[in-house]
Amino acid sequence: MTSGNAKNHHHAAAPTNASPSAARQRPHVVHSRADYLSALTELPGSVGLVMTMGALHDGHLELVRQAHTHADHVVVTIFVNPTQFAPGEDFDAYPRTLEADIAALTTVGADLVWAPAPEDVYPEAPLITLDPGPVGHHLEGASRPTHFAGVALVVTKVLNLTRPKVALFGEKDAQQLAVIRAFVRDLDMPVEIVGVPIVRDTDGVALSSRNQYLSPEERTRARALNRALTVGAEAAAVGAAPTLVIAAARQVLDAEGGVDIDYVELVDDHSFQPLNAGSARGRVQARLLIAARVGTTRLIDNMAMTVEVRG
Ligand code: PAF
Repeated sequence: MTSGNAKNHHHAAAPTNASPSAARQRPHVVHSRADYLSALTELPGSVGLVMTMGALHDGHLELVRQAHTHADHVVVTIFVNPTQFAPGEDFDAYPRTLEADIAALTTVGADLVWAPAPEDVYPEAPLITLDPGPVGHHLEGASRPTHFAGVALVVTKVLNLTRPKVALFGEKDAQQLAVIRAFVRDLDMPVEIVGVPIVRDTDGVALSSRNQYLSPEERTRARALNRALTVGAEAAAVGAAPTLVIAAARQVLDAEGGVDIDYVELVDDHSFQPLNAGSARGRVQARLLIAARVGTTRLIDNMAMTVEVRG
């Protein structure tokens, strides 16, 4: 989400600000693969797909609201995908809140929810690994080397099972979105991928299912990420070079204290490669990315901006 078009929705499990035109029926919820495929045949017209891992917040609900504007029906999947978690990551601890998720989806309207078990998605252990390529090997891919292969696998499988007209993903996970765009393009997958801007809480913190791990004091420190991105965007707006944009953002994080930086990077928003001496010259559509640990919680955030790259 750019600083200019940020929508500061309040975080709410079951928000009251859904558009009044959306249906308010409890969605049809299915679990098995067979029931999902059968339920899809009962949806005439186009499908907009929103894939989630549950623990839904208003960022997810914004994806659903947007999906209604792109397709006749909205299908939501809720699945904590084991193949995108490495051993020792928070797969077991990841919040699973199906009833609350369905209640939240009822407020924005969804036609069908697929909440499968791992064996419904992976009836057999997969033999194929999808290499996310250069877009996915650095940044999040450096900290989590198998993560994007797992994301690519599950997204490909669910797209193939669902065959939606459009699939919507949040810009909060900007690198994930770039990886998905890359494999959908390279594999000629017949779906339109739509990125939806980050939804921020009133204190500027980007909504994330992992925010619930933060103590009140850590939550206050977590605000520094959005402040750092904003300061970086302000530096870019007055023509600062990439290294200075990054330095300005880092300074804010360092000044906060207790924010353990994993990376602060400025990438070309199309190639997702760092802006540096080898980059294209001129005004480049870029994205400033931060990953940092606050307490034991690893947070990511980003902001789109135009950056002046000189020779
Ligand atoms: O962004 C997520 O929640 C997940 O990575 C996704 C896209 C649902 C795939 O499991």
